[in-house]
Amino acid sequence: MAINYNKDEQGIVTLTIDTQGKSANVINLAFGVSFRENLERLKAEKDSIRGIIIASAKETFMAGADIDEMFKETDPKYFFDRGQELKAGLRYIETQGKPVVAAINGTALGGGFELCLAAHRRIAIDNPKTQIGLPEVTLGLLPGGGGVTRMVRMLGLQPALQYLTEGKKVDPKQALSDGLIHELATDKADLMAKAKAWILANNTAIQPWDDRSYKMPGGTPTTPKVASVLPVGPAMLAKKTYNNYPAPLAIMCVAVEGAMVDFDTATRIESRYFTHLATGKVSKNMIKVFWTQLNAINSGNSRPKLAVKGEFKKVGVLGAGMMGSGIAYCAAISGMQVVLKDVSQESADKGKAYSENLLKKRVSKGKMTKEKADEVLNRIKATPNADDLKGCDLIIEAVFEKRELKAEVTKEAEERIADTAIFASNTSTLPITGLAEKSMRPKNFIGLHFFSPVDKMPLVEIIVGKETSDETLAKAFDFVKAIKKTPIVVNDSRGFYTSRVFATYVTEGIAMLGEGNNARSIEAAGLQAGMPVGPLAVTDEVSLSLMTHIRKQTIEDMKAEGKTIPDHPAYAVTEKMVNDLKRAGKAAGAGFYEYPKDGGKKHLWSGLKEAFPEKTQLEEKEMIDRMMFIQALETVRCLDEGVLRNIPDANIGSIFGWGFAPFKGGTLQYINDYGFKEFIARARELNSKYGARFTVPASLEKMAAEGKEF
Ligand code: NAI
Repeated sequence: MAINYNKDEQGIVTLTIDTQGKSANVINLAFGVSFRENLERLKAEKDSIRGIIIASAKETFMAGADIDEMFKETDPKYFFDRGQELKAGLRYIETQGKPVVAAINGTALGGGFELCLAAHRRIAIDNPKTQIGLPEVTLGLLPGGGGVTRMVRMLGLQPALQYLTEGKKVDPKQALSDGLIHELATDKADLMAKAKAWILANNTAIQPWDDRSYKMPGGTPTTPKVASVLPVGPAMLAKKTYNNYPAPLAIMCVAVEGAMVDFDTATRIESRYFTHLATGKVSKNMIKVFWTQLNAINSGNSRPKLAVKGEFKKVGVLGAGMMGSGIAYCAAISGMQVVLKDVSQESADKGKAYSENLLKKRVSKGKMTKEKADEVLNRIKATPNADDLKGCDLIIEAVFEKRELKAEVTKEAEERIADTAIFASNTSTLPITGLAEKSMRPKNFIGLHFFSPVDKMPLVEIIVGKETSDETLAKAFDFVKAIKKTPIVVNDSRGFYTSRVFATYVTEGIAMLGEGNNARSIEAAGLQAGMPVGPLAVTDEVSLSLMTHIRKQTIEDMKAEGKTIPDHPAYAVTEKMVNDLKRAGKAAGAGFYEYPKDGGKKHLWSGLKEAFPEKTQLEEKEMIDRMMFIQALETVRCLDEGVLRNIPDANIGSIFGWGFAPFKGGTLQYINDYGFKEFIARARELNSKYGARFTVPASLEKMAAEGKEF
């Protein structure tokens, strides 16, 4: 049974949700059947019932709808009918007259919290780890179990929309102060006692919105004060998301349209919009990548299946610069002892101060106690002394990007650590196999490529060198999980996966400038495509000189291997920018953009028009396709070459690593979304117009012929 029915001697019925075969409760088909049966019983025994408690048999209350089940379904009728049926049941519960209490023993999200919203009283155990909220929007959906309708009626339009469009999750204390729940309990016994007491103290109960004197908090959409601000919402949303995300807009529509009509009509409107989203491409893309594939990664899909477990008590970080100080912070806050080593005490201290600042901010925001922050900071030992590295289970090197220096610090550290310890390099461009040649223990040598700023960016790209052992990989994987980041695993290659594919986006944008397209249009197309930053702006951030430097280095390295690198039109532009125009990027104070010295807003450099005269103007769609196709095609090549090992790593890596359009579900899902055959046809067209870099990989043709998808 998904829901157990138990009536005590006082006539209080406890409906205990207990999804079979899962660690968390979900709303699935079995729940639907059980819910129906329990409703029948509640109706039949109505006269002998004093009140109802909705509870959970698991550690958490309920995770929400069964997303795997939803993902497979494409029939609109299924979504609409099931939504309506659930809502009719919840409506019965909240209108049958007897008091209903939701006993929230742990996390209640999505459909789980929607059940609670149908109760007259919500009591939650005060555990800061418990999450309460309606995060459907993050999977391209809206709360379709009455969540939008009830939140709006409970909180008012604006506060409800804030919760719903952001998918905000809060702990019980915050939920109480925001009016999502009514009361806190200390533990399970207290929770059940309070639930019963409330029922016994109330003979009947109705929802505020069913009371004749009900007025919507803050006013309805026709209240002048509300009416005047309503149009701002969709406009702000368009500015932020370029209308690439249908869910937040649909939530606004349901909220506003629903606020103008009676409750049942409002929930029907909600079901219609929900059906539209649930059967649409964006939610399928987002569920596939942020649910199915992310879960696969987190459960160790890319980790060698070895019994060994990586345990990290003491971690050494070499180089207390931008990256090293961020890495030290992440390890320390995850409970590890950290030795942060730089060339002098002063520079090591500077790196530690970075953590001190971040911790101070956490304390001032109330996210951490002062004692806990001190504890974390005390775990970091800033030092210039390599002997302090003794006893480290793992060393992460983040010194300057110079081969000789990296070789030197590798030796220095390896001489002081155990044979079993791992040595990782955070190099951004140097192949791991080459660096490992200077290692005493190449089997224990691996790449851990972090992203900047380290404390914020969720991804770590693990790079496996030729000699890296499976055991080292497994342990490195465990380390990344231990610092609460998402690991993807790639094989060694120039630029690995993330930098290599990301570079194609940037160079495609620069090439378009060289062809004589308007710079502003190129930037706008990048943003409209769903990339977080335009290609020219991001080049300025990375620095044009670094790009030309890496290019030169690559040409030299490949020459040494007897290979040549194909020409790319972007490099004529970057060379001209760096050498002739002396505009090397943001750090140099001038790049594609102007950076006013008085701190004013950056803007595109007016000289671009003269340096790269406008000769043509591609349509935005053409620009978008070029910038997105080139990334998708390069990703397929990475898969073909074995740089990438699987599809989830490709998709998650692209979104978490460089912000590839999340609504498309990542670089490979982009191809599915476009339509596999349509993608190939369009790539051929781009190939004939813009050259070999758009060549369709044979593997893609083969997959299409076999009717396969990524
Ligand atoms: P940074 O210049 O901010 O820091 C490098 C630090 O290494 C400096 O504090 C320097 O004093 C220290 N150092 C130099 N010699 C040392 C030695 N013998 N022992 C200990 N420390 C020494 O550089 P950043 O940006 O932190 O980069 C470090 C590494 O991370 C580079 O390999 C870079 O390619 C890589 N990386 C950088 C990313 C970025 O966005 N900046 C992203 C991913 C990787």
